[in-house]
Amino acid sequence: MNGHYGRKYGRKMRQNKHRLMAELLPELEIKLEDDRLPSLESLTKGFDRINLEVGFGAGEHLALQAKEYPNELFIGCEPFINGIAALLQKVEQESLNNVRIFPDDAMLLLKALPENFFSKVFILFPDPWPKARHNKRRFVNKNNLAYLSKKMKEQAQLLLATDHDDYFEWMLKHIDQHPNFNFLSDTKEEWLKKPDLWTLTRFQEKANKAGRVSRFLRLIRK
Ligand SMILES: C[S@@+](CC[C@H](N)C(=O)[O-])C[C@H]1O[C@@H](n2cnc3c(N)ncnc32)[C@H](O)[C@@H]1O
Repeated sequence: MNGHYGRKYGRKMRQNKHRLMAELLPELEIKLEDDRLPSLESLTKGFDRINLEVGFGAGEHLALQAKEYPNELFIGCEPFINGIAALLQKVEQESLNNVRIFPDDAMLLLKALPENFFSKVFILFPDPWPKARHNKRRFVNKNNLAYLSKKMKEQAQLLLATDHDDYFEWMLKHIDQHPNFNFLSDTKEEWLKKPDLWTLTRFQEKANKAGRVSRFLRLIRK
C-alpha cells in the first residue's frame, strides 16, 4: 500500500516539477546572449534594490528574503536543476513577483552586469572544496571577490556563511586581503550569530546534525 502511494506521490511531484521547469522557469529565467544581458531595464524596472544569492540550493533563504522585501528584486544563481525546481515551487506557492533565476555559474552573470548594481549579496554555505588541491575552486577567491566588489554598490552588504572551519579561515584571509570590503562582524561571538532574517536551509540542517558549527561573515562594500 505504502509503495503504491509512494509511487503516485512521486509521479505527481515529478509532473509538478516538470510543469514548473517548462512553464514558470522561462518567465523568470535570466538569459544571456553572446555573454551579454539584452534586457537590463526590463529586469530591474520598478524595484528599489537589486540583490543576489549565489548558489541558492533549494531556495529556502532566497524565497524568505523575497517575501520579506517585495519591493526588492532577488536574483538567484544555481545550476542544480532540483534546486531550481524547489525554488520555483516556493515562488508559486508564495506568489512571489520579485525573483529571477540564472540557472548557471554566477560568474557568467556577474560579468554581464554593470558596476554598482547590487545592494545585498548572499553566499551561503558555498561548496567547501576541502582537499588542498581543490581549494582554488572555492567561490570566495581573489578573482571572484574583485568582480563581485565592482558589481556591488558602495555600502552594499555581503553575507557569507560556512560550516567548514578551513573555508572560514580562508574567507577571513581573502576578505582581509581585499581592499574593497570592511568587516561588520569581527568577533567570535558575532561570527556565530545567525542573521536576523534567517531560515535553516537543508544544507545547514545537515551540518547541525553532524555537529558542525555555522559561522557568518557580514561585510560592507567600502
Ligand atoms: C553546499 S550548497 C549550499 C546551498 C544553499 N546555499 C544552502 O545553504 O542550502 C552550494 C550550492 O552552490 C551551487 N554553486 C556552486 N558553484 C556555483 C556557481 N559558480 N554559481 C552558482 N551556484 C553555484 C551548487 O550547485 C550548490 O547548490
